[in-house]
Amino acid sequence: MNTSLKEGIDWVGYVDWIVRDFHGYMTDKGSTYNAYLVRDEKIALIDTVKAPYAKTLLDNVRALTALEKVDYIVCNHAEPDHSGGLPEVVKALPNATVVCNEKCQVALGRHFDTSTWKFQVVKDGEQLSLGKRSLMFLDTPMVHWPESMFTYVPEEKVLFSMDAFGQHLATSRRFDDELEDALEVIMPEATTYYANIVMPYGKQVQKVLDRAATIAIEVIAPSHGVIWRKHIPEIVAAYRDFAVCRSKRKVVIVFDSMWKSTELMAHAIADGASLTDVEVKLYSIRASNLTLLATEALDGATFAFGTPTLNQGMMPEISALLTYLKGLRPTGKAAFAFGSYGWAKGGSEAVEAILKDMKMEILRPVLNSQYVPTEEILKECFEAGQMLAQKAQEMTKTA
Ligand code: FEO
Repeated sequence: MNTSLKEGIDWVGYVDWIVRDFHGYMTDKGSTYNAYLVRDEKIALIDTVKAPYAKTLLDNVRALTALEKVDYIVCNHAEPDHSGGLPEVVKALPNATVVCNEKCQVALGRHFDTSTWKFQVVKDGEQLSLGKRSLMFLDTPMVHWPESMFTYVPEEKVLFSMDAFGQHLATSRRFDDELEDALEVIMPEATTYYANIVMPYGKQVQKVLDRAATIAIEVIAPSHGVIWRKHIPEIVAAYRDFAVCRSKRKVVIVFDSMWKSTELMAHAIADGASLTDVEVKLYSIRASNLTLLATEALDGATFAFGTPTLNQGMMPEISALLTYLKGLRPTGKAAFAFGSYGWAKGGSEAVEAILKDMKMEILRPVLNSQYVPTEEILKECFEAGQMLAQKAQEMTKTA
């Protein structure tokens, strides 16, 4: 496996082929925890890995240099998928100082006993010389934790971008130009990653992108997945779109159903929305998952969420989805709620209340059916679907 980013700069992380659940995010293609070693007159390890894989990281470092020779361990982010290995790594690198910003030092102290660790606290824009090369530290608050930071090697134009531009994707290749159909393989995972991890922080991402535009970059080395060196313009352009939740001409319909009444309504809505130039996605929540549906929320334009009324409220899976989406804060979307009820209403009304909370544009009043939908109600569903598609067209009209 080629692990060399530049002469003297190597990937030393761990490929996690097995992980399928990353704190609820379904990682069906696995992941990697990327760490990097910069060897100059001084030697710096950039980030570590999840705690169980610290030994592999140390083996990878040992293959390149004696552990005693490592001078610095840069911690760009305190989340345990990157810092979990720190206690073992700090112990194994007797001459290394942990380099991080002040917020990160505090966060690490809340995770581990750091009382014996040597720290060097760095400020935004500060540079640390390694000899011919240096490390420059760029704070990137809330992308996606308060202490998040990039490390940049100006002499080599390498940006260690931490979670930003990452993907949960296990491969035997470390670089985008080594993968066949690279963009088809990597971009969907980068999109899913952004939607599920970074989406709430679009404004902060825009600031980071503006700042990144002021530095020369030949390599973007994230903390997960494949390293970008060929498709940097494409991933940066994608992040510009992600940061504003730019909608595609896409209608997304998600429903749960008890006895198929809400399902019938969902199909009628989808039929109505199926204009030739509008993509329609119809999901039964029981045959889908929150990770995928959050990704649809990033670039879908209009949405219909359906639930039967259960105990005067919505079905629990729809509730879980909307709770998740509310936290992820997709912006600039339009939607309505629909569903069947028996002797009391409440399901679609509860959905609509959350959609309003999420500041989605409400396209029409809740669309209800008492028990099984009549032909008349299905016609209304079809027309509501047409409205979703027309709105999606309007929202994505180019000037
Ligand atoms: Fe990959 Fe926010 O940790």
